Amino acid sequence: RLTLYQSNQLHSPHLTVGGGHTPREAFSAGINNFQEEEAPQGRPFNKEKMKDSPEEEAKLERQHFWRIIDAFRFYRVHVQEQVKRAEGQILSLPQRHQDLLPDVLSNLARISQCADHNQEILQAVVHNSLHMFENIEYGEREDPRKVCPSTTFDMDKLKSTIKQFIRDWSETGRAERDTCYQPIIEEIQRLFPNDQYDVSKVSVLIPGAGLGRLAWEIARLGYICQGNEWSFFMLFSSNFVLNRCETVNSLTLYPWIHQFSNNKKSSDQTRPIIFPDVNPQSLPLDADFSMVAGDFVEVYSESDSWDCVATCFFIDTAHNVIEYVETIWKILKPGGVWINLGPLLYHFENMADELSVELSYEDIRTAIVNVGFRIEVEKPSVQTTYTENDRSMLRYIYDCVFFVARKPADLYFNGQEGEEEEEDDQQQSFPPAAKSPRREGTDRLT
Ligand SMILES: C[S@@+](CC[C@H](N)C(=O)[O-])C[C@H]1O[C@@H](n2cnc3c(N)ncnc32)[C@H](O)[C@@H]1O
Repeated sequence: RLTLYQSNQLHSPHLTVGGGHTPREAFSAGINNFQEEEAPQGRPFNKEKMKDSPEEEAKLERQHFWRIIDAFRFYRVHVQEQVKRAEGQILSLPQRHQDLLPDVLSNLARISQCADHNQEILQAVVHNSLHMFENIEYGEREDPRKVCPSTTFDMDKLKSTIKQFIRDWSETGRAERDTCYQPIIEEIQRLFPNDQYDVSKVSVLIPGAGLGRLAWEIARLGYICQGNEWSFFMLFSSNFVLNRCETVNSLTLYPWIHQFSNNKKSSDQTRPIIFPDVNPQSLPLDADFSMVAGDFVEVYSESDSWDCVATCFFIDTAHNVIEYVETIWKILKPGGVWINLGPLLYHFENMADELSVELSYEDIRTAIVNVGFRIEVEKPSVQTTYTENDRSMLRYIYDCVFFVARKPADLYFNGQEGEEEEEDDQQQSFPPAAKSPRREGTDRLT
């Protein structure tokens, strides 16, 4: 069983969290890269200037929570509207054309059935989400049966979340995980090998953890691992898969029914995917795995806390990626490492009223070095996919950058001490994971 902590302001990434975050029980725990973040709140760029009162914050938080619950509940209606529209188009064709397409209407009926099935899974996710946070209750709906319409924006995010189940928790997603997660995992094992480290003392943070598979895999290897996630779509879903799904391949989703273009066969659109490919509850009893809810830069402010921060398809979610660079620098212990893999598909690009600093990798790299990191490994071209439909006639490949950047271990040593560190090759190669344990604070659990 995992523990979830939640910070405030999940609804509004633009506001600063005052009191940090508080622990909550309850659980165990991507977007695709297409604007998975929260809906624009219409706030100005300077977040400091726009703090609401705590009461207003709590109200906005509640509204946001229920808006996302509503999106999960509205899904079936939304897909059925799409199906009805497609049926209407077919039925509007001249009869002789319809006669040439004997299977089309039955395929649409099948899509409708698949949506009903997806809705059952989504209902289970919602059912387990209503009280998943220990320290916050979001009240009850006056009429819980009432389904409120959702925006296309939220429906798109929900569909992306469904695809994220495939990336993280299905056999089908294995190839994608091998290209995205495996290089990060191998690097952690190379940097903190278990024959030289007590890995149960090596702490790894995964900001933007999505449905938690990367963090889970790292915890399975014995490292302390914490995922951090901001989106309720992801948090509800990760809570479900991590805490409520025990039987391998017992559940089915139809993630491709929303894709009406680029299908070679109609049956490709309605093919099922089963999950979870492993029992998420099968972590060793002494595993130290947690998920923390909230905005990465707001939740993590404690200096010199982590041995490793690993970002996968994450840094382009920033309004200002330099803020992420600074935060990672601050929270890493001296000698700690930042491992990154991902593209730069800036999530706030083209969003009105949103700060979005779209830098090239070259510029980010300059900033990383200027902050003080030493880049130890750099691969400019790692090809990966993201929630790919491997039967689609349109497929994207991301040409990702992969790097390992170290916060030098000699940072806090001046004069003689610093020179000693410089001379100590071993110290340079292996950060002092067990030497300066992360402080046990509110950001940790189990
Ligand atoms: C493209 S997804 C990647 C998910 C996962 N790392 C993977 O590779 O599948 C980016 C994730 O970062 C989360 N995210 C975006 N901004 C965040 C923030 N400020 N703090 C924490 N998580 C954030 C999103 O909700 C989303 O789940």
